[in-house]
Amino acid sequence: MLEFDGQVVIVTGAGSEKGIGRVIARTFAKQGAQVVIADLRGQEETAKLIESEGGKAFPIELNVTDKASVDHMVKTLMDKFGRIDVLVNNAGISQKVTVADMTLEDMQKIFAVNMFGLFLVTQACMKPMIEAGYGRIVNLSSVSAKRGGGIFGGAHYSAAKAGVMAFSKNLSREISDKGVTINCVCPGLINTEIWKSLPEDLVKKVIDDIPMKRPGETQEVANTIVFLASKEASYITGEEIDINGGSHMD
Ligand SMILES: NC(=O)c1ccc[n+]([C@@H]2O[C@H](COP(=O)([O-])OP(=O)(O)OC[C@H]3O[C@@H](n4cnc5c(N)ncnc54)[C@H](O)[C@@H]3O)[C@@H](O)[C@H]2O)c1
Repeated sequence: MLEFDGQVVIVTGAGSEKGIGRVIARTFAKQGAQVVIADLRGQEETAKLIESEGGKAFPIELNVTDKASVDHMVKTLMDKFGRIDVLVNNAGISQKVTVADMTLEDMQKIFAVNMFGLFLVTQACMKPMIEAGYGRIVNLSSVSAKRGGGIFGGAHYSAAKAGVMAFSKNLSREISDKGVTINCVCPGLINTEIWKSLPEDLVKKVIDDIPMKRPGETQEVANTIVFLASKEASYITGEEIDINGGSHMD
């Protein structure tokens, strides 16, 4: 059992009913954290669910692409709790499109959320962490950043998620000596709604390529993130952890 009692943990994109973020938030709450559910939508529902399970949740509307919205969240949290211990940059969007058909607007939308939004939230949250001399930042990258695409995302998604990894490594050199670690996880195919909507022949093909012969579970992603965000992961920074059943190894 990892200990998060008294810690304030932000999970962006935690409103999605069947998404990874809600499971991440519930897992932190079960470890005693005060979890901030920050999303464009669904944040109230996730917070109610966590409270019904005996956890502590604080819902807040957040658009990661809007600096004013990000600054408002950080100010609200500092006024209310006086600290931010953990940030999980989970909010993300994807789009299945070939480069031949991709517009500049498609590219900009994907980067706006997955990369620029992550930058805005990270920059705003790391300030109080540095002042406190303690913080944990965990970013959601993807196997598609490493192997150049999966099943759903286009080249813009792979590029943005690769950007997340490079950004995180660079930032870890800047701030790790101030008590703040920053790491990435790279999930492979995870058992979310998109997976369930795939045609049977594609499911078979994908499963055949995974050494563990199954998709990952959202809980398995959450477990890894909670570890990286714990005090126990004190000497890990600038790292990327694959959660992909062996579908990509490096
Ligand atoms: N599902 C997978 O198989 C998989 C694999 C690898 C990586 N990932 C990454 O994991 C993360 C979660 O994926 P998911 O499948 O749970 O997605 P999801 O679509 O279920 O959830 C994403 C959440 O992000 C929120 N969001 C989108 N734009 C936002 C914005 N501008 N501001 C604030 N919130 C915003 C959405 O409202 C949603 O609640 C993403 O970063 C995704 O790229 C997912």
